[in-house]
Amino acid sequence: MLPWLDAVPANPSSVHRSGQRARAAVETARERLAAALGAAPGEIVFTSGATEADALALQGTLDARDDDRRGAMLISAVEHDAVRRAAMREADRGRPLVWLPPGPHGAPTPDLLAAHLDALETPAALVAVMHTNNETGAVADVPALADLAHAHGAAFLVDAVQAFGVAPLDVGALGADLVAVSAHKIGGPQGVGALWVRDAHPLTPQAVGGAQERGRRAGTSPVANLVGFGVAAEAAARDVPSRAARYAALRDRLEAAVTAVPGVAVNGAAPRGPKHLNVRVGGVDGDALRIALDAEGVEVSAGSACSAGSLEPSHVLIAMGVDADAARSSLRFSVGEGLDDAAVDAAGARFAAVVRRLRDAAF
Ligand SMILES: Cc1ncc(COP(=O)(O)O)c(C=O)c1O
Repeated sequence: MLPWLDAVPANPSSVHRSGQRARAAVETARERLAAALGAAPGEIVFTSGATEADALALQGTLDARDDDRRGAMLISAVEHDAVRRAAMREADRGRPLVWLPPGPHGAPTPDLLAAHLDALETPAALVAVMHTNNETGAVADVPALADLAHAHGAAFLVDAVQAFGVAPLDVGALGADLVAVSAHKIGGPQGVGALWVRDAHPLTPQAVGGAQERGRRAGTSPVANLVGFGVAAEAAARDVPSRAARYAALRDRLEAAVTAVPGVAVNGAAPRGPKHLNVRVGGVDGDALRIALDAEGVEVSAGSACSAGSLEPSHVLIAMGVDADAARSSLRFSVGEGLDDAAVDAAGARFAAVVRRLRDAAF
């Protein structure tokens, strides 16, 4: 990225030589991301992140449908707010919205989707189910869900942000119409992401202006960010099984240490991605626990980082049937690059000590 940050940035849409060099760098990034996803470069729409990609997918698909807002949205209740809130806004404008509950492991199952599709009073327009949940790691059976959605004439959106780099992500095999990804979850820069749009899938652009991204998203391309995203995507697509196995071993080791503390239980169940560990911790205040862990150098979150500061318990855990108090005293650990067994063991030991201290102080 550095050469593109150092230089006076040229606009990749300009026809002069500097512009064309920038354009070539953007197109190389597009090819790298497309190769990582098993896609064609022309199917990639670069965005400012997965939030924008999710919103473009949802709103752009529904706007293109031209159905007077009669077709229903079936949205997984455990989606990231990027999808949930886009759907809620469209519902406020009059389109039917049905929340799809998760099965016991934490993601909607094909049976649940089939039952909800059959119960609809209006045609289905769009189904959205994320690949891997960002709070629990629960993995959905995307190909089966996509088949069901298509059989009912609905488009299928997959937020695959948490799966990229740790699960095989071949868009052909997923069977979806729209797949959202983000650079900063695979070691790339913040503020950049992409939407894969199946060739010929009708999509109404939301940002209009220039003809960038084949007219699907106007605005000057952030060259350095896209270069970083392309390189990160290429790296993320390499050695996925061994990365996933390495992360799973770290997560399982952490899980064993954390759940050895009495009164600690895992939220969610297999199939689960390798990065996440979500636990409820009995007998402690969740905020006090997170603050005390942070002071010990163990950085965890409650729910999603994006809703940090919200007093509401996690909508994901509530949808899974976890009661509000248990959801408030739940924590999310994630593992990633730079961690090893020793770091995980230290985190587990500090967790045990902090929980003991907080529980002692409560009496
Ligand atoms: C599952 C999921 N979807 C969407 C987003 C939003 O992505 P971005 O931060 O790139 O807008 C995140 C963010 O971390 C996420 O975890």
